[in-house]
Amino acid sequence: CDRLNARSDLAGMKVLVTAGATRERLDPVRYMTNDSSGKMGFAIVEAARARGAEVTTVYGNVTAQVPAGIRRIQIESAQELYDVMMREAPEQDIIIQAAAVCDYRFEKTAKSKIKKDEGEALTLTLTENPDVAKAVGAIKKKGQTLVGFAAETDNVKKNAVDKLKKKNLDMIVANDVTKPGAGFNVDTNIAALITKDGVEEEPLMTKRELADKILDKIVELRK
Ligand code: CTP
Ligand code: CA
Repeated sequence: CDRLNARSDLAGMKVLVTAGATRERLDPVRYMTNDSSGKMGFAIVEAARARGAEVTTVYGNVTAQVPAGIRRIQIESAQELYDVMMREAPEQDIIIQAAAVCDYRFEKTAKSKIKKDEGEALTLTLTENPDVAKAVGAIKKKGQTLVGFAAETDNVKKNAVDKLKKKNLDMIVANDVTKPGAGFNVDTNIAALITKDGVEEEPLMTKRELADKILDKIVELRK
């Protein structure tokens, strides 16, 4: 759409978008991960680029096509994401964290394939990962705009508002992933844009349309 591409309201802005899922390795052939195709994050990347921003994406495992013509940093684990974000965040004007980060990792990553012990249960211990968005929020600079996502199955708004506060975000994009058209690996979403001033419910729309709504709201917040 020409009208979408004609805007340049993010010209000169440094925008960082995280996308996809982290993977936490158990052994050389196994890992734990979250649902995420990367589609929502990459839709924001495309929209921000079309509006003139200088875009960086930090992405984990994705099934969506990684956008070309922008700065791309690939990570695997939540710890790697944390390390990259602690380095990159201070340089950015706008940070949008759409990545699905594993809250836990395996306490130990085995160097060789773990063999099964027939007839025995296997117990694995998980260790908490750093909360990247919270850490980015803790070092937020004046003039930065931080946005997070919350994919919920119940108490969507209450959970999202709690995360907005806890992570020192300016906006959280909340979606109920049980709604048809709002789940994973689809081209549409149904979201609520939540700021300290209130909740804006968005109807079903494409991820690209939602990406522009999110950027519109960010531009408005920065005025
Ligand atoms: N997030 C993060 N680091 C984590 C977990 C989450 O940066 N270790 C970010 C996500 O990228 C997202 C936001 O925090 O922008 C909310 O993620 P979510 O999983 O919904 O929130 P949690 O705080 O992990 O709470 P819970 O999973 O218990 O609902
Ligand atoms: Ca989580």
